[in-house]
Amino acid sequence: MAKNKNNQAIWRTRIKKKTSTLFQRVGSSIDIDKRLYKEDIAGSIAHVEMLLKQKIISFKIKNKIIYGLQKIEKEISKNKFEFNNKYEDIHMNIENKLFQIIGEDAGYIHTARSRNDQVITDFKIWIKSATKEINLNLDQVIKSTIKIAEKNIETIMPGFTHLKNAQPVSLAHYLMAYVEMFKRDKRRFINNLESLNESPLGVAALTGTSFNIDRNYTAKKMGFSRPTNNSIDTVSDRDFVLDFLFSISVCSMHISRIAEELIIWNSDGFNLIHLSDKVVTGSSIMPQKKNPDLLEYLRGKTGSTFGNLFSMLTILKGLPLSYFKDLQDDKEIVFKSNDTLVNCLKIFNEILKNILPNKKKMYELADNGYITATDLADYLVKNHSMSFRKAYQKTAEIVNFAEKKKKKLKDLKIEELKKIEPKLTNDVLKVFDLKNSVNSKKSYGGTSFVNIKRMISKYRKKS
Ligand code: ARG
Repeated sequence: MAKNKNNQAIWRTRIKKKTSTLFQRVGSSIDIDKRLYKEDIAGSIAHVEMLLKQKIISFKIKNKIIYGLQKIEKEISKNKFEFNNKYEDIHMNIENKLFQIIGEDAGYIHTARSRNDQVITDFKIWIKSATKEINLNLDQVIKSTIKIAEKNIETIMPGFTHLKNAQPVSLAHYLMAYVEMFKRDKRRFINNLESLNESPLGVAALTGTSFNIDRNYTAKKMGFSRPTNNSIDTVSDRDFVLDFLFSISVCSMHISRIAEELIIWNSDGFNLIHLSDKVVTGSSIMPQKKNPDLLEYLRGKTGSTFGNLFSMLTILKGLPLSYFKDLQDDKEIVFKSNDTLVNCLKIFNEILKNILPNKKKMYELADNGYITATDLADYLVKNHSMSFRKAYQKTAEIVNFAEKKKKKLKDLKIEELKKIEPKLTNDVLKVFDLKNSVNSKKSYGGTSFVNIKRMISKYRKKS
């Protein structure tokens, strides 16, 4: 069987000297981009089928090439393929192997294409399926969050602003806030599919090709909706990479926020949740400790995903058109970010299954800090026709009085309240009740139990 001459890199006819070992090591990306082998083979098959349809290659050669490619795919998936640094990347490794399997006819595969369009074709297909996997993981997280929310519609806790007690809320409402974020994350990933749906194959090195190729045909074969419009832009464009990295960063940021939230709630000061032993770790010196390390891991990993987004932005900044070696790093960056996020989503889902809210502590904490003061102000507006500013002032006086007396608002006597606002009657006392406060927020999107129930059942139907 004919071999690629001396089993050398393909450009050996022009470049006579052996690449320095050091350069071979840094220039090769095979250890990273071998992950694209399936996409690369699918792209090559679509390409040669198109070459046949356009009568650029013969039926026999097309069949030989596809036979060889399928053999290579099997070998790689069975871990029997030997990747070689000498051939730089996945494209050259596969092409070289094709020479070994089918001989000189392998030389037809690269007609009317370049590695420049080949690599982004592979990469776009890969990111499309990675997007689907991320969204499946997000679905799991959403499901688990809703599950806790369902059980805690009537669990009352303080809603915070500035980490100070602000107004009482339902724990379910709080958790459903994160469901909104994760749903937005899903949508952000889905929105990216639009630009991922344009096929780069056929723009060749940067100018397009003089062969009579059919880019619409290859686009459809590989599951894209249409070809890209400008060959120079296509080989230089990594906006789709940025979109993916940005979406990953935002999603990690959401995970990091809830992780931080849960770390605070788990602290001895707050003690609002209990984490099961499955998701905590001990200390090597302090025997009493049970630390929320996994949550800290999630919070910390956001640093990597943000960093990866910034690496890619920086690589692209100031890079003229069109292809440069600088771009080769895009795959390592994307794979790292993707793996980190998928890992974090799985860990987070596990944590969600191991959280127990401390309902009593949540209620007790909510019962502090004059948390129903706004309800009193609203009551004055509604029942004693005051302007909100006037009612705010009156309420502030009542809070000052309670503070001086070291009493909670609900413990004030009606006579004491009347001294500050004579119009008040016994009826006012109900506004200090936490459950009443939560349930009164019936405006759309508010924390009342009915609202939450409605939202939960709407989201359960959808997912
Ligand atoms: N491995 C290369 C990359 O990922 C493929 C493109 C190579 N093109 C070139 N002109 N050297 O960027």
